[in-house]
Amino acid sequence: MAKKEEPKLDLMGNWAYAPAPEDSKHIHLNKKYDLFIGGKFVKPTKGKYFDTISPSTEQKLAEVAEADEKDVDLAVKAARNAYDKTWKKMPAKERAKYIFRIARMIQERSRELAVIESMNGGKPIRESRDIDVPLAANHFFYYAGWADKLEYAFPGRNPQSLGVAGQIIPWNFPLLMAAWKIAPALATGNTVVLKPAETTPLTALKLAEIIQESGLPDGVVNIITGFGKTGAAIVNHPNVNKVAFTGSTDVGKLIQKSIAGTDKKITLELGGKAANIVFDDAPIDQAVEGIVNGIFFNQGHVCCAGSRLFVQEGIADELIRKLKDRMDTLIVGDPMDKNTDVGAINSKEQLDKINHYIKLGNNEGAEIFQSNCSMPKKGYFCKPTLFLHASQSHRIVQEEIFGPVLAVQTFRTIEEVIEKANNIPYGLSAGVWTDKGSKIFNMTGKLRAGVIWANTYNKFDPTSPFGGYKESGFGREGGLHGLMPYLKF
Ligand code: NAI
Ligand code: MG
Repeated sequence: MAKKEEPKLDLMGNWAYAPAPEDSKHIHLNKKYDLFIGGKFVKPTKGKYFDTISPSTEQKLAEVAEADEKDVDLAVKAARNAYDKTWKKMPAKERAKYIFRIARMIQERSRELAVIESMNGGKPIRESRDIDVPLAANHFFYYAGWADKLEYAFPGRNPQSLGVAGQIIPWNFPLLMAAWKIAPALATGNTVVLKPAETTPLTALKLAEIIQESGLPDGVVNIITGFGKTGAAIVNHPNVNKVAFTGSTDVGKLIQKSIAGTDKKITLELGGKAANIVFDDAPIDQAVEGIVNGIFFNQGHVCCAGSRLFVQEGIADELIRKLKDRMDTLIVGDPMDKNTDVGAINSKEQLDKINHYIKLGNNEGAEIFQSNCSMPKKGYFCKPTLFLHASQSHRIVQEEIFGPVLAVQTFRTIEEVIEKANNIPYGLSAGVWTDKGSKIFNMTGKLRAGVIWANTYNKFDPTSPFGGYKESGFGREGGLHGLMPYLKF
C-alpha cells in the first residue's frame, strides 16, 4: 500500500497547497520563428536570430528573427500595398467579419495562448488564462462591432482611415497589447506593422499564425520581431502614417521627438505611479484584497499598478497589519501552477532594476517589510515588498519601479491626499476606497489620472477608454475613444 503523505505546512504554519501545474505538453513551439510579412513567414534579410527564454526557468524556448531596417521596409511596403489594393476598398462589414473571426480563433486557442504567455512572460497562468487571453478576444469582438458603424460613432464627420499604423508594444501584456493595437486599427480600415517586445515575442507570433489561418488578406497585419532598433526603424519609416506605442516614458519621449515635424499621428501610453487611496470609512478587508491585486498579483508589471498606497491615519495600523498578514500568504513561484499568486519577473534586467529600487528605499530610510514566503531557486523572482513611512520626496515614491514594491504613506485630510497623489510626473490611474459615493465623486474630479477605480482595482473592459495625463502619455485606447487615433476627419 502506498504510504499516505503527511500534509505539508508552509513557513507560516498554514497548510500548503499541493502543486497544481497547468499541462504544457500540448504546446507546440517552433525552434525558430521568422518574420510575418505579407501573409508569409519570411527569413530576416541578415539571417540574424535571438533567443527567447522563460524567465521562471531561464531556459531557452525558441529563436526569434531580428528584423533590421530592410525588413521593416519590406513590412511597411506589404502593409501599404495591402492598404491601397485591398483593405481600404473592402466594404466595412466584410472587414468586420475578419476581425470577428480572429476573435473566435483566439477563443478557440485560448488555452495554448495562456500557457505560452505564462511560459514566455512569467505571469501566473491564472492571470493569463482569466485576464489576458479573454480580454484580447474581447477587444477583437468589440472592435469588429464598430467596423461598419463609424458613421454612427462620429455622425456627420466622415471618418477616414490613415494608412499604415506602426505599433510597438511592451512585455507586460504581450497578447493583450497586440489586441489593443491591432483591433481598432483594422476596424478603422488601416493596415499594421506591429513589433512585440524582445523578451515576449511568442504569443504575438502565435497571433500571426492565427491571422494567417483566418484568411485576412496578405499584408494587412505584419508582425516583426526585434529590439529597440527595429522599433525605431518602424517609427521613422516615411510611409508609416500613425505610431502607437506602449512602453517606457523615456522611449515615448524619444519617439515623440523623432516624429516631430512629420504629419504622423501618435498615441503614447507610458509609465505610471498610481495612488491607491484608502479612507477610514472603507471596507478594510476588501481594500486589502484590492491593494494586493493592484501591486502584487501581476508582479507589479502593470503601468497602472497601485504602487503608492495612501491610508487615512485612523485605520493605518489595522490595515497595515492585515496587509502584512495577507502578504505572508502569497504564493511566489512557478507561473504554470494554478495556485501561484506572484509569478516571475519578466527579465533579469527588470529584476535588477527592482532590486536596485529596494536597496534605494532602504537607503532613503523607509521601513521595509517583505512577504515571508519560500522562493524558487531558479528564475527571476522578487518577494512582495512594502515600504512603510515612505515620504513624498523618496525616489521609491516618485519613480516607476514596475515590480511588486509598494510605498506606503498615511494622510489626514482629503486635500492633503489629493495634493500628494497628484504631485508626481505621472497620471495614468488611481484607486479610491470609501463607503461614500460623494467622496468618490469629489476625488474623481480632482485626481489627475486617466482612470480611477472606486472600491476595486485593475478592472478592464474593451468598451472603456484607457490612457494618461502628464508623463503617462496621451491618446486613449479602448472604447469609442480608441477609434479616434486611427481616423482623420
Ligand atoms: P521600453 O520602452 O524600452 O520597451 C517597450 C517597447 O519599445 C519594446 O518593444 C522595445 O523593443 C521598444 N523600443 C525600445 N526602444 C525603442 C526605440 N528607441 N524606438 C522604438 N521602440 C523602442 O521598455 P523596457 O526597457 O522594456 O522597460 C523599461 C521600463 O519601462 C520598465 O522598467 C517600466 O518602468 C517601463 N515600462 C512601462 C510599460 C507600460 O506599460 N507603460 C511597459 C513596459 C515597460
Ligand atoms: Mg528599454
